[in-house]
Amino acid sequence: MISILFLQPKSNPYLQMNPLYFKFAHFIGLMCLFIGIGGYIAMSSTTEPGKRKLFGMLHGIGLLLMLLAGFGYLGAAKLGTPTWAWLKTALWLALGLFPLVAKRRILSESALVLLALLAGGALAWIGLFKSIG
Ligand code: HEM
Repeated sequence: MISILFLQPKSNPYLQMNPLYFKFAHFIGLMCLFIGIGGYIAMSSTTEPGKRKLFGMLHGIGLLLMLLAGFGYLGAAKLGTPTWAWLKTALWLALGLFPLVAKRRILSESALVLLALLAGGALAWIGLFKSIG
């Protein structure tokens, strides 16, 4: 049953995974990641680490999902590994450091929000326009 849901119609002789499932997972990851980053920034000054736990978990799950779904899409859509994908991976790594930077309180909350939006915007731009490589 599950295999029927996740595969393309039987008319496809290769029964290949539909790339759109990966794109869907990419979007779910995006939501988890940014809820995680936002919540973590908002909770950065709390003295109760338990309050940050949910957002830390969401950040981690979102990051992993974005990476797996991103490369999964490239594989399923037979796009290879273009330069823009590696650039996205580098920016993805930078977003991975957000909880660390927020916890150390090196930057103000508004600076962190602005940086997250700039990085997220750049990642979305590259994913949509693929203007590099
Ligand atoms: C956390 C960072 C990331 C964000 C915010 C992000 C965001 C996006 C967005 C908004 C799109 C446009 C979806 C569309 O075409 O409708 C996209 C597409 C895509 N992203 Fe990401 N992305 C991230 C990380 C990655 C990573 C690490 C990879 C690894 C290869 C990746 C690979 C892709 C691919 C393959 C597409 C689809 C391109 C196509 O439609 O041909 N992304 N991403």
